[in-house]
Amino acid sequence: MTKLEGKVALITGAALGLGRGIAQVYAKYGAKLCLVDLAPQLETTAQELRQEFGVEVITVTADVADASMMEEAVAKTVAQFGQLNIVCSNAGVCRLAPFENFDAAMRDFHIDVNIKGVWNTCQAGIKQFLEQGGGTIVIASSVTGDLVADAGEAAYAMTKAAMVGLTKALAVEYADRNIRVNCTQLGYARTPMVEKMAQESNPEDPESVITGIAQSVPMKRLADPKEVGELFAFLGSDESSYLTGTQIVIDGGSTLPETIGMGTN
Ligand SMILES: NC(=O)c1ccc[n+]([C@@H]2O[C@H](COP(=O)([O-])OP(=O)(O)OC[C@H]3O[C@@H](n4cnc5c(N)ncnc54)[C@H](O)[C@@H]3O)[C@@H](O)[C@H]2O)c1
Repeated sequence: MTKLEGKVALITGAALGLGRGIAQVYAKYGAKLCLVDLAPQLETTAQELRQEFGVEVITVTADVADASMMEEAVAKTVAQFGQLNIVCSNAGVCRLAPFENFDAAMRDFHIDVNIKGVWNTCQAGIKQFLEQGGGTIVIASSVTGDLVADAGEAAYAMTKAAMVGLTKALAVEYADRNIRVNCTQLGYARTPMVEKMAQESNPEDPESVITGIAQSVPMKRLADPKEVGELFAFLGSDESSYLTGTQIVIDGGSTLPETIGMGTN
């Protein structure tokens, strides 16, 4: 019996990047999956999981910013599998621009996906959890916003920091109804999002941005999405049964250094 056998998980932003990595780890541990995304790669990802792990996977093409679509995604999950045990609210967006030029539409895009999208995902999931008598939510926050930030990240940092507040508020509101809510605070993993950010940071040489990130991390590398998936699996499983309202940093030590030059190495 693996740690997610018998569990049904809904994962948003599951077609690509971290969501795909989370889905791979959940499938490895035997969960039945509903993958939610807007991207056309969604069905390909689902098919890969069915073939590699032999698990049941359904897909729902939905925009997390649309509350009714997320209600529908949960309804389809329950219609297919009879229950929903874990919600991984992972879908998110990040665009960089100088704050003085950051237009309102781009600001609102971050709010719609990164805040309202997570809100909608959690609300749809929690309604189902209340009917069933419990469940677990794992939210993808970031070290960006709550702990650190780089220039150009105002909208992203603002919205990812909001996840910490949402996590704590939901955790305390539902703790006595067998619903746990935690968030992860990732440093950098190489995903389509980070490749786009590298392109926006240095259009002439985006690869140098990725190399620079790796150099700034004490472990000298970015995360593998599956390493993040392992944390999501722990937080989604019964192994973390006494954890709620937490924010867990997973960053290869990137937020640790106090200075660039001080020290013996
Ligand atoms: N990659 C990193 O280094 C990093 C670091 C910290 C936090 N995060 C967070 O992890 C999450 C995933 O990041 P990623 O790097 O995999 O991003 P990504 O852009 O590589 O992939 C995001 C996925 O979400 C989907 N998506 C985007 N908007 C959506 C919407 N409105 N509705 C449904 N699906 C949508 C995309 O189609 C894509 O498949 C995000 O919340 C991000 O903020 C990522």
